[in-house]
Amino acid sequence: MNGFDTRYARYADEMKRLYMQLYNNDEKAFDYFVSMLKDYESRRSPALKSWDEKRTKKSESWYMDNKRFGMLAYADCFADTLTGVREHLPYICRLGVNYLHLMPLLKSPKDRSDGGYAVSDFRTVEPRLGTMDDLADLAEDCHENGISLCLDFVMNHTSEDHEWAVRARHGDKEYQDRYFFYDGWDEPSRLEESLPEVFPTTAPGNFTWCSEAGKVVMTTFYPYQWDLNYRNPVVFNDMTANMLFLCNRGVDIIRLDATPYIWKTPGTNCRNLPEVHMLVRLMRIACEIVCPGTLLLGEIVMEPKEVVPYFGTIDRPECHLLYNVTTMASTWHTVATKDTRLLSDQLNKVFVLPKQYVFINYLRCHDDIGWGLDYAYLEQFGIEEVPHKKFLNDYFRGMIFDSDSRGELYNDDPRLGDARLCGTCASLCGIEAAIEEGDTEKIEMGLALDIMLHAFLLTLSGIPVIYSGDEIGQRNDRTYREDPAKSQDSRYLHRGKFDWEAAKRSMDGRSYEGRIRKSLCALSKIRKSHRAFVNEADTWLVPLASADGDHSVIGIGRYHKGEKIIAVFNFSPAAKTVYTEEKEKYSTLISSGNESARKKTASSGLSCMQLPGYGYSWHVIDYGK
Ligand code: GLC
Repeated sequence: MNGFDTRYARYADEMKRLYMQLYNNDEKAFDYFVSMLKDYESRRSPALKSWDEKRTKKSESWYMDNKRFGMLAYADCFADTLTGVREHLPYICRLGVNYLHLMPLLKSPKDRSDGGYAVSDFRTVEPRLGTMDDLADLAEDCHENGISLCLDFVMNHTSEDHEWAVRARHGDKEYQDRYFFYDGWDEPSRLEESLPEVFPTTAPGNFTWCSEAGKVVMTTFYPYQWDLNYRNPVVFNDMTANMLFLCNRGVDIIRLDATPYIWKTPGTNCRNLPEVHMLVRLMRIACEIVCPGTLLLGEIVMEPKEVVPYFGTIDRPECHLLYNVTTMASTWHTVATKDTRLLSDQLNKVFVLPKQYVFINYLRCHDDIGWGLDYAYLEQFGIEEVPHKKFLNDYFRGMIFDSDSRGELYNDDPRLGDARLCGTCASLCGIEAAIEEGDTEKIEMGLALDIMLHAFLLTLSGIPVIYSGDEIGQRNDRTYREDPAKSQDSRYLHRGKFDWEAAKRSMDGRSYEGRIRKSLCALSKIRKSHRAFVNEADTWLVPLASADGDHSVIGIGRYHKGEKIIAVFNFSPAAKTVYTEEKEKYSTLISSGNESARKKTASSGLSCMQLPGYGYSWHVIDYGK
């Protein structure tokens, strides 16, 4: 049997069962689906096939090692075009980055694209950025440099300019059936009762009047993003084909955008329905059969109990990678409160998950930070959801004493008191305000916080992914306010153009840009060379006693094959002393202010540790394998 037949045989029964269940035993649609898979497999290039083989042969999955370091960038903000990105790959390599997530780059209408998340043609690159050939060339260069390329697959909706939408708009019933069309407002109004809103202020409601069709269409996100109807097998077949088309262009990681929303059932909130998991599992199987080296990254920005099921089970996995969103939000909560207890509780929940689960860890991404914290846990400290969200938003806008943060609100929903937050890492850490004030002491504190947070990020199991520009402390970009197409969407605050001048300055290790970049490089280098950072390492919270009884320091332990690492982080601007039970002779790998130290200095055990304000340190002990 050839590769396709062997892999097909492995999944045939399960695939058929799932498909038949979703699509009412539609044999014809299923047969089409299978022949489509075969077709894409036969068109996959020999180079990509050998890539698949290499990746699937490895005993330990390549993405679970400690070698991954990721970056997220808009091609145009970073380097204008795809060719520009290619030319700047040396910069990316120098940082040690080997996972590059380029934000949506397929064709989408100008000024109605939600940053590229309204795709009008899934097989054409946005002409401003280049061509499909440029994308394939970029992927090839990435592979040559050991970089995996991640791309969004915006599957919940198309742009209103997509060919299907245009036909639907002109009354073609077959194409209207690919979306959710209603003759009047009665049904949408009924459905609206159980539907939450994603963009309550920038795009309220879940439906939009389409005057050309004389009908109402479902638009969960922006009105120009029309929800696809995955109850229609043609939609699923064609969209899976679109995904495989991208995989065959060399994309290694497919980010399934807005995953929870892809199946709708009236009367529910239309999120995370069981059918969504069936669809994701089917897409995983499609990849396993056609392009087994490809990974699926699910975008589920929700509470942990909704996120984790998207890993599927060990026998029937769904996504390879998911975002560690609650840890991200809990980290910023800790910055504001200087109390690590919620973060500790969150980490404890993550630490006990199966080691096959791999998270993308991040401090921020292209989207806002939503305050989805465990409020049931916080209740014991008298912290309530609505006032706490207000406190966090005030804190990160610098409206509270001792905060120099410069964030902005996003989708402030006064009915729910549910605003979210935008800002670059450096601006949220106070660097922007400090530079404006010319206050060198504050700059030092901002830098210390920024670097400590990145050190914390790189301590966690999974793949750390930074947003392009954060490695050189790029600040907020307020020019979006002058662009009418962007001014209502404050997420553009932290999506500014990459500052190549600042990148040049960062080559001087004494500049503030250079200090962040140098620290990040040092941290990722150490991470890559210590096995205790692999995904399957044991992880735990190190019990700490503090001299003043507060909870601003957190300790994380990692262990793998004889190597043990202890990492501590001080979330307070004040110096802290903590005591541990770690009496053995550890070596210090890196510590705040000492990021360039190349040699390990043996320290005399960690029983009493002194940390400067926002200080951190990593320590290692090697018992041999
Ligand atoms: C995802 C993207 C976000 C976009 C939304 C709608 O959540 O991360 O930027 O607005 O999908 O496509």
